[in-house]
Amino acid sequence: MGARDVRSKDSMVRQSGISRDNVFTPADFDDLVRSTFIEEFEFHPEIDSTNARALCLARETSHRYPLLILAEHQTAGRGRGSNRWWGAPGALTFSLVLDHVTAQLPPRRWPQASLTTGLAVCEALEGLRLNRSIQLKWPNDVYLEGRKVCGVLLESPAEQPSILVLGIGLNVNNSLQNAPQELQSTAVTLADVAGRSCCLSDLLKRVLQCLAERLSWIGCRDDELWARYRERCLLTGRPICVELGQRSIRGLCRGIDEEGALVVETDEGIEKCFAGVVTQF
Ligand code: BTN
Repeated sequence: MGARDVRSKDSMVRQSGISRDNVFTPADFDDLVRSTFIEEFEFHPEIDSTNARALCLARETSHRYPLLILAEHQTAGRGRGSNRWWGAPGALTFSLVLDHVTAQLPPRRWPQASLTTGLAVCEALEGLRLNRSIQLKWPNDVYLEGRKVCGVLLESPAEQPSILVLGIGLNVNNSLQNAPQELQSTAVTLADVAGRSCCLSDLLKRVLQCLAERLSWIGCRDDELWARYRERCLLTGRPICVELGQRSIRGLCRGIDEEGALVVETDEGIEKCFAGVVTQF
């Protein structure tokens, strides 16, 4: 582990000047391993990208999964497609490495793992009792009060197709003040909405617990999962535009079907999108 060599939260707060809610101590890590499904973890005060690190570690055979890679700050956070993930101190950024055998998650189920990751984050945020709308934007972004609060990036190393990396970036106590202009009008942080800061280690624990629970439903309690995706779908009933590689479609979103596809009613008929980017909604 790359954690700083300090024992208590107080001493760490004093030494680092980092706010109490944003500090991770060795005791927090012990608690994470004890109370979640994490078997191994790495902590980085600074790293380029936790997903890049995860893909690198997946090439080694010595790891136990689920493996958590957590970073206080990412210098080159990756987003979907060619996007970057913009980060500032106080965000929760981590990657979870799963192998499909111990996670009982065969690759054909991975598209569902993507929706389920977003759902688990929604449910973890629900636990904060903010009394605000928390929705899932297909395929796996989380929206709080209509703005993006969390992005998820799933990757699998080409040479290790049995490994799945779930990268999660959650705006918690970070400020969007220095964020690119476009983000300032489309993103939100938990602290902005809650009017107070949230403890990152408590929230991480909650997200991991929700993830373990909901991922374990895949393949055996799918009906309940579908019902949950549907009730949280941000796009249902909205006119949307979806980019599907070389072409894009416009229509009314009719929700998410049992295969995880986004259903769009276009002028030409119903179209099911299994992958794509919703650019307008
Ligand atoms: C998106 O919204 O396009 C997905 C963003 C995913 C960001 C997270 S932050 C932790 C992990 N490491 C990365 O480099 N990216 C993901």
